Amino acid sequence: MMKEKILVIGASGQIGVELTLALRKIYGNANVVASDLREENELLKGSGPYVSMDVMNKEMLHVQVIRQNITQIYLLAAILSATGEKNPNLAWSLNMQSLLNVLDIAKEEKIHKIYWPSSIAVFGPTSPKQNCPQQTVIEPITVYGISKYAGEFWCNYYHQRWGLDVRSIRYPGLISYKSAPGGGTTDYAVEIFHEALEEKKYECFLREDTYLPMMYMPDAIKATIELMEAPVEKIKIRTSYNISGMSFSPKEIAAEIKKHIPEFSITYKPDYRQQIANSWPQSIDDSVARNHWGWKEDYDLSDMTKDMLENL
Ligand code: NAD
Ligand code: SER
Repeated sequence: MMKEKILVIGASGQIGVELTLALRKIYGNANVVASDLREENELLKGSGPYVSMDVMNKEMLHVQVIRQNITQIYLLAAILSATGEKNPNLAWSLNMQSLLNVLDIAKEEKIHKIYWPSSIAVFGPTSPKQNCPQQTVIEPITVYGISKYAGEFWCNYYHQRWGLDVRSIRYPGLISYKSAPGGGTTDYAVEIFHEALEEKKYECFLREDTYLPMMYMPDAIKATIELMEAPVEKIKIRTSYNISGMSFSPKEIAAEIKKHIPEFSITYKPDYRQQIANSWPQSIDDSVARNHWGWKEDYDLSDMTKDMLENL
């Protein structure tokens, strides 16, 4: 078997920390190089190699890939939906250029596998709200969604034209306790747990009836690793796979938390993120991922709430 050497870009972020630790368990600490623009996350310290790197600096990225004998890249650096609306030019430039830099270097250096996540944010107001299918009308209204949709087609292009094995998942909103979320519209579903434990109350920036597709981080990590380890013939979608875990509203997650913390209360003060949430589907049809590479989630709202409260 080929010896893998993996580079994780954006390793200090919400997904990066947990994915890096999971990959280190599988491939060995020394074979997973974590990198980020910001300092190394505390949870990564001492667990394996770390390089400080700006993915926008293509030369530096190229040098690292050669110097470290990298065979696989996981590109997680991005600006998420809510932060992206505050600085659309920066979001477009980082989200697109980082991907093009990685794809170009991968093609030149024969990197044999690349992972790049897309998002439910590719969907827009004209996409079906319930059980949104793999292939449907896609007209995103956020700069983040536009960058993810364009990115999906660049992945597909590099696969079709140069045979690059790029794989991708459209993550729903991710909920986790190890590292903080980075500026998305679904971040409320993480904040609510911290505030419930510390303050026993939470003011939510989305309306109580805003249903969104969500997933617990252990499921997202499992999906990512299963997708990347699936035999190549099973990967038939080269844009990005829909996957689904659960769907709930702020009112529903608050009620679930109240089962564990009866004095918890929630109020609602919707802001600019409401419009972003309104443009996304409420639930996702992931039957294609289930059929192609056997995706299945482990956690529902009740399991996740229990686990979050136990671990925070
Ligand atoms: P995050 O913001 O928590 O982490 C991104 C990391 O990238 C940060 O540590 C940041 O410092 C780093 N970074 C930013 N600019 C960089 C640069 N120029 N060079 C190197 N590193 C840089 O984001 P996340 O939630 O971990 O998301 C990771 C990926 O997953 C993104 O592509 C995101 O769009 C996607 N995604 C996330 C979610 C979610 O709910 N978290 C949902 C759908 C898709
Ligand atoms: N959780 C992400 C966001 O809200 C979805 O990609 O931006």
